Amino acid sequence: MNNETPYRNYYRQRTANQWRKIPAEIGDPSAIRPFLAGNWKMNLIPRAGVALAARIFDFCHDIKDVDMGFAPPFTGLSTLADYIEPDFLRREYGIGRNVFLLAQDTFFESKGAFTGEISADMLAAIGVDRVIVGHSDRRANLGKYFGFSSSVARRLSKEFLTHTLARLKQRENIEPQVLATIEHLLHEKNHEVLKGLATFLENELNERAGESDDAIQRKVQAALRNGLQVILCCGENREARDAHETFKLLDRQLRIGLEGVARPTMPEVIIAYEPIWAIGEGAKPAPLEQIAEVHDFIRNLLMDLYGEQIAARVRILYGGNVKPDNIGDMMKLAGVDGALVGSASLNATDFAKIIRFGLSD
Ligand code: PGA
Repeated sequence: MNNETPYRNYYRQRTANQWRKIPAEIGDPSAIRPFLAGNWKMNLIPRAGVALAARIFDFCHDIKDVDMGFAPPFTGLSTLADYIEPDFLRREYGIGRNVFLLAQDTFFESKGAFTGEISADMLAAIGVDRVIVGHSDRRANLGKYFGFSSSVARRLSKEFLTHTLARLKQRENIEPQVLATIEHLLHEKNHEVLKGLATFLENELNERAGESDDAIQRKVQAALRNGLQVILCCGENREARDAHETFKLLDRQLRIGLEGVARPTMPEVIIAYEPIWAIGEGAKPAPLEQIAEVHDFIRNLLMDLYGEQIAARVRILYGGNVKPDNIGDMMKLAGVDGALVGSASLNATDFAKIIRFGLSD
C-alpha cells in the first residue's frame, strides 16, 4: 500500500495526544473496517431500490474489506432485506456479510397508539441491522413540515387568547398564574409585544423545532434494546459554527444522546458528524481541517465517557456532500472511518466509487 492510498482495514492508536491509523491485515477481526452508508432519504420505490443496489454491487465485485450500508425509506426495507441475503451476495458478487440494511429512523415506544410510527422491534423483525438516529432532517425541520410553528403563532393571536381566557375562567383548578399571564398579554399596551412574540416564535420553531436530544436518547436506547446498532448523527448549523459554538453543541448532543449507553454496548454505536451547513444541494463539504478537528473532539469526548480503548474502536463517519472526488482525502484523516452519504448514494457509479474511496477500478 503506498502513502497516497487510504488504509482499508486498520488499527487506531493514540500517541502523544494524537490519533493515528495503522494498517491491518484484511480479515483481522480486531481491525477497524471503514463503513460507507447511503441514506436514500425519501427516494425510490422498493423495486427501484433493489435495482440501484444491484448496480452498485455490479461495480463492487469482491469488495470484502469495507462495510457498506443502504438506508431506503421504510417501505423499501423488506424488499431490500430479501435481496441482500448473504449467500446470494456471495454467489453473485463475491461479497456477503459486509452489506448492512439501515432504517432512517425509529420510534422509542415498542407498540401502541402512535399512528404512523415504526418501532425498533418491528425493524429488527424484518432484518434491519442498524438505524440512523438524530439526522438533522429530523432534528430541525419538523416544525416547518408539520405546522408546529404556525399553530403556536395562531395561539398567540388576540382572538385565540380572548376566547381561551373565557373558556379557562369557567374551569376549576386553573393556575391563577396562567390566567394572569393571558390577561397581561391581552392588555392593550402589550398588543405589539404579543405580535412580536408570535412572529419570533413562529420563525424560531420554523427553523428549529424537531426531535429533541431527549427523544433521540430514547430512540438510541430502544434500538440497542432490540439488537439494532445505532448510527447517531450530530452536527452544528451555520449559526452555531459562526458563533464558535460547534463544540459546545456537539458535546450536548452526544452526551445526552449517549446517556445510559453502557461501556460494553458502546461498540454497537457509530457516530456520524454531519454539519448541517455542509449537507445537500448547493452546499460545500466541510474543509478537511474542520472535519479532522471535529472528529478529534468527538473521539476525545468518547475517551472521557468510555476510556481510550473504546474511543479508539468507535467508528465516526463524516456526512455532508461526500462525493467520489473528495472521499479519498477524507478517508486519509486519522479520525474518519467512513461516510454517511445522501444524494451521491442515489447514483450507482458515484456510490460505488465512494465505496472504493474514489478509485474508479
Ligand atoms: P448529502 O446528504 O450527501 O446529500 O449532502 C448527507 C446527509 O444528509 O446525510
